[in-house]
Amino acid sequence: MHIGIDFGTSYSAAAAIIDGELTLVRFGDAEQFRTAVFFPERVPDPADFALTPALEAQLEAQLRLARTRQRQQAAAAMARGQAPSPHGDDELRREALRAVRRQWMEEQTRSASASIASLQHALFGEQAVEGYLDSGGGHLIESPKSMFGYRLDPQVRKVIVHIATHILEHIRLAASRQFGVAVRGAVIGRPVEFRSSMGAQGSLQAIGILREAAAAAGFDQVTFLEEPAAAAMHYHRSLQQRQYALVVDIGGGTTDVAHARLGGGQAPRIARSWGLPSGGTDLDVSVSLHSFMPQLGKDRISMPAHRYVDAASVHNLPRQREFHQQDYRLVDEPYGSRLRALQEPGSTTRLNQAAERSKIVLSVSPRHRVALDFIEHELAVDLDGADFRDAIATFLGQLERTLTAVRNELDELPASIFLTGGTSRAPQISERVQACFPATPLVRGDPSLGVVSGLAVAASEADQQTA
Ligand SMILES: Nc1ncnc2c1ncn2[C@@H]1O[C@H](COP(=O)(O)OP(=O)(O)OP(=O)(O)O)[C@@H](O)[C@H]1O
Ligand SMILES: [Mg+2]
Repeated sequence: MHIGIDFGTSYSAAAAIIDGELTLVRFGDAEQFRTAVFFPERVPDPADFALTPALEAQLEAQLRLARTRQRQQAAAAMARGQAPSPHGDDELRREALRAVRRQWMEEQTRSASASIASLQHALFGEQAVEGYLDSGGGHLIESPKSMFGYRLDPQVRKVIVHIATHILEHIRLAASRQFGVAVRGAVIGRPVEFRSSMGAQGSLQAIGILREAAAAAGFDQVTFLEEPAAAAMHYHRSLQQRQYALVVDIGGGTTDVAHARLGGGQAPRIARSWGLPSGGTDLDVSVSLHSFMPQLGKDRISMPAHRYVDAASVHNLPRQREFHQQDYRLVDEPYGSRLRALQEPGSTTRLNQAAERSKIVLSVSPRHRVALDFIEHELAVDLDGADFRDAIATFLGQLERTLTAVRNELDELPASIFLTGGTSRAPQISERVQACFPATPLVRGDPSLGVVSGLAVAASEADQQTA
């Protein structure tokens, strides 16, 4: 049996068509879960390498071996009548250190894999975030999808594949339990363009990671469908008249658009798709930088601005590591103490939660007060509509440019726009979509379930083809 899986940046969901009815996979009481995993054990981090006495002994052993090898090579060279070309002792030590570090990393990855392999230790969704904040240790990975398209060294890639495997296995087991059959097939949604630091190569890497993870999670048959195309398949089922429609999915990590010929009882036909690798999580970072970081000295002390971007970017592990490694003891007060409080385990996650909540509240309310007691006793920030407008201005500009480019590339205006994705809940966002197509009716789908509903349709078609 196939299921549709929406592996979202912020939320994941799965569904199938059972007896002609869309049936969502349930995760406890919920129809979706926050795409976060918490491992009580640590995931290996190359930056944690430090020479313990045991590793020091390994290093000395490696060095002795290297010196012996060098002496033997020198003797062999002399015997051949050649001049030996010995490496300096510093160089030998550097090489030995690299070898010990590599062995350490492999050992760490092996033990992390062993713990990652045992599902009972991992927590998912909101429970993962809570588990992390309560325990003050372990490792929380939020929005791993944001990292799929980034340049990853082989060890980190391995860890990311493990995390994706865990999430997909969690989904497969929940679906198998609920439907009473071993679920082995999946149609997995993908953005038109993954967030990437390597251009188109990033999307290829991301699909590679998802394929590997899905196979390890027990899916034998996997296909991918662009997320806006999936949402289009869902919208298609509600349209009596054949028409050209535009589907706009504004999610947590990406904004995806599809132009499709839909409805009227014929098969849907996706004509084109466009992707903007930005979404709701970027708005959270903007709110944080705009309204919270000045309380930690941004634009008030001579701290490089990128330090604040590092702190706010909770979905970017290398940036978070950079922030946590800084020494803020000499920074002017009160900012030094506040920055050190933000370095405490869980603090950047808390600040990001506060930013996301502020964004959601301010999309419909004129004011919002945020208590930042975890940074400093009685520290609070008041935000208003102007702060919100400033924080989302960049994204609104990107959205407008993308939709204007789409409009310019179409031969005729679409008959309707189907709007989905969590970020489309903000009225300012949906108004901007409407402003780009003033004469076109906006049809609102369920912001959370438009994509997974279409993936379920595609999954049931895959079942019919394999039957
Ligand atoms: N009322 C709201 N106003 C603004 N943003 C909201 C609102 N409700 C939810 N969001 C945002 O919607 C985003 C999640 O949307 P969605 O579930 O569609 O994303 P996703 O499918 O996980 O991500 P992607 O499709 O990009 O991989 C989050 O950034 C969340 O903060
Ligand atoms: Mg989505």
